[in-house]
Amino acid sequence: MKSPYYVTTPIYYLNADPHIGSAYTTIIADIVARYRRASGYDVFFLTGTDEHGQSVLNAANSSNTDVQKYCDIMADRFERLWDELQITNDGFVRTTDKNHMKTVQYFVERMLEQGDIYKGKYEGWYCVPCESFWPADDLGDEKTCPSCNRRVRWITEDNYFFRLSKYNDSLIDLFRKQPDFLLPDFRRNEMLRILENGLKDLSITRTSFKWGVPMSSDPHHVIYVWVDALINYVSAIGYPHDRETFNRWWPADLHLIGKEINRFHSLVWPAMLMSIELPLPRHVYAHGWLTVNGQKISKSLGNAIDPREFLKVYSNDAIRYYLVRDIQFGRDGDFSEVNLIGRINSDLANDLGNLLHRTVVMINKFAGGIVPEPAEPTPADSQLVEIASWTIDEYKENMDSLRFTRAMESLWELVRFGNKYIDLTEPWLLGKRAEKKTQLDTVLYNLADTLRTVAMLISPVMPSTAEEILNRIGCDETFDLENVRPKMLKCGTSVKHGEPLFPRIDLSRHKRVIPPPDEVIEEDRETTIGIDTFGRVDLRVGIIVSGERVKKSKKLVKLLVDLGDLGQRQVVAGIGKSYDPSDLTGRKVVVVANLSPAKLMGIESQGMILAATDSDGVSLLTVDTDVKPGTSVS
Ligand code: ME8
Repeated sequence: MKSPYYVTTPIYYLNADPHIGSAYTTIIADIVARYRRASGYDVFFLTGTDEHGQSVLNAANSSNTDVQKYCDIMADRFERLWDELQITNDGFVRTTDKNHMKTVQYFVERMLEQGDIYKGKYEGWYCVPCESFWPADDLGDEKTCPSCNRRVRWITEDNYFFRLSKYNDSLIDLFRKQPDFLLPDFRRNEMLRILENGLKDLSITRTSFKWGVPMSSDPHHVIYVWVDALINYVSAIGYPHDRETFNRWWPADLHLIGKEINRFHSLVWPAMLMSIELPLPRHVYAHGWLTVNGQKISKSLGNAIDPREFLKVYSNDAIRYYLVRDIQFGRDGDFSEVNLIGRINSDLANDLGNLLHRTVVMINKFAGGIVPEPAEPTPADSQLVEIASWTIDEYKENMDSLRFTRAMESLWELVRFGNKYIDLTEPWLLGKRAEKKTQLDTVLYNLADTLRTVAMLISPVMPSTAEEILNRIGCDETFDLENVRPKMLKCGTSVKHGEPLFPRIDLSRHKRVIPPPDEVIEEDRETTIGIDTFGRVDLRVGIIVSGERVKKSKKLVKLLVDLGDLGQRQVVAGIGKSYDPSDLTGRKVVVVANLSPAKLMGIESQGMILAATDSDGVSLLTVDTDVKPGTSVS
C-alpha cells in the first residue's frame, strides 16, 4: 500500500480577496502534493478558509452583508481561484462547516478535561486584523502591531485561558530533540528565544462578539479564532468521529505557512495537541514573505492584485516556474514582473521551448516523424545520459528537502545540455550521410528521451507544459517520479509539431499587469490627486466618547473618539469656538485614522476630525444613518 502524505496550507481569512501572496503558499503546497503523488505517495492536500473572528465580521459588516452569506461568497471566490490556478487540493475546509465546529468544541472540552483551561480576566493589546494578542513590550512606538503595523486595541474581558506556559519545557524539548520539526533552520532560534523568555497562558475565548464557535460548557463564550482555525488540520480529516480516516493521515507531514504565523503553528498548536495527547505534525515550514515589485503587498498600495490578472497575460505554468526558480523558498522575495518576463524569455522560450522545437523538427525531417530506435552510444550520447541520471538524483534530493530553486537549477543544466548536445552532434550533418543513419537515430532518440525526463521532472511545477511535451514526443505515460530513468522512452511513436511552448515577450511592446513606475500617469500635483493617493487616506466613522477644552486655548478641544476595531483615539480638534465639548458625547464624526500623530499644545492628537469651515465657524461632518464606529468612509 502507498505511504500517506498529508500537506496543508494556512486557511485564509475571508476579510480580503486572495492575492499573489496567498496564492504563493497554495502553489507551493500544490507543487509538493503533485511531487509526492508522482513519487508514489497517497496524498491528502488540504486548504481552506478561516471564517470566524472579529476581522471577518467587520469585513462583512462593512459590506452590509449577512456574515454567513459574506463568507459563502468569499469562500467561493477562493475555491474558484484555486481551480483556475490548477490547484489539486483534496480537501477544502471552512471553519463554518458544522463538522469542523463540532470538532472545535470537542477538542476544547478535552483540553478542559485535562485541566489545561481555566477562567480568568484578560486585559491586553489585541490586533484585530491579525486576530492576535501582543505583549506591550512587542508593540511599536505608536501602539502598533509588531506583525502588520496597524494599531492594536486594549481589551478587557473575562476569558478562558489555555495553560500554554505548562508546555514551555516540552516545547523546548521538541525543538532540541527534533530539530527538523520547524524549517528552515533559522526559524527555530526565533521560537527558542520566545521559549527562553517563558510562554504566557493564552486567552482562548471571547465574549464581546458572537461570530465564532460557542464553547460547549459555557456557550456565552466563543472560542478564539486561532484555536478554532488550527483545529482545521484535524477536523478536515475526520477527527474525532472518523478515526480510520484520521489515523490514515495524521500526523500531518507538512504544515506550510508564512513566517508571521509561525508561533501559532510551532508553539500554540503543538501545545494544544500535547494537551489532548495527539501526535504532533512531522514538519512545519515557515516560508518568507513576498513583496510585489519591491513593495509590501497591501490593499492600500493597490498591489494586492488578483492572481487572475496575471493569468490573463502569462501562463499559469510560467508563473509557477518563476515563483520557485527566482524566489528562494524560505527567504523573503520579490515578485517582479520584469524578472518573470526574463525567465519566460530565457529559461522557458530559449532553453526549454527551443529544445522541444528543434527535436520535433529534426525527428520530422530525418526520421519521418517517428521516434527512432537508438544504437551504440558515442561519448556525447553517453554524456547526455549521464547528465540526465545525475539530474534526476539531484532533483529528487532537492525536492524532498523543499529546495525548489536548486531542483530547477539542476534540471535546467540538463535542458541546456540538451541544446548543447544538438550543437555537439550536428544532426544536420549526420543526416547528409547514409552511413551515419544509426548514429543520427541515436541522437534523435536521446533528445526525445531527454524531453521525456524533463517533462516528468517539471510536472509538479509546470503540469500543463509537461503534458504538452509528452504529447508532442508521442509519449502517453503518466508522470512517474518513482521510476523515472533515462533511456526508457518507447520508440516508434509519432511526434507532433505545434506552436512555440512559450512565445518570447518583447518587453518594449508588452503591456504589464503592474505598470512600471514611469508609466504611471503623473498626478497633476497642483490641482488633482489620483485615486491611489486618495485611497491611502483611511477615513473612518467615529463616535465621540468624551470631550474637554484644552487649557489655555479657546480653539482646541481634546476628544476621545471610539473607532470600533481600531480602538479609542485621543484627537485634538480646533472646533472650540463653535462647539461646547461637553455637548459632543455620542456624536458621529468622520476621522482621518492614519494620520501621523502630532502634538498640539503639548497634547498628542492621534487623528483628525473632518469639518467644514466658513465665515460662521466650523461644522462637523457626520453620517446620516446608524453606522457602526470604525466603518470605512470612501
Ligand atoms: O493568517 N507573501 O490567514 P491570512 C507570502 N487565517 N505569503 C503570504 C503573503 C505574502 N506577502 N501574504 C499572505 C491567516 N501570505 C490565518 C491562518 S491557519 C490555521 C490560520 C500567505 O489570510 C502566507 O501563507 O492572513 C500567510 O501565512 C498566509 O497567507 C496568511 O493568510
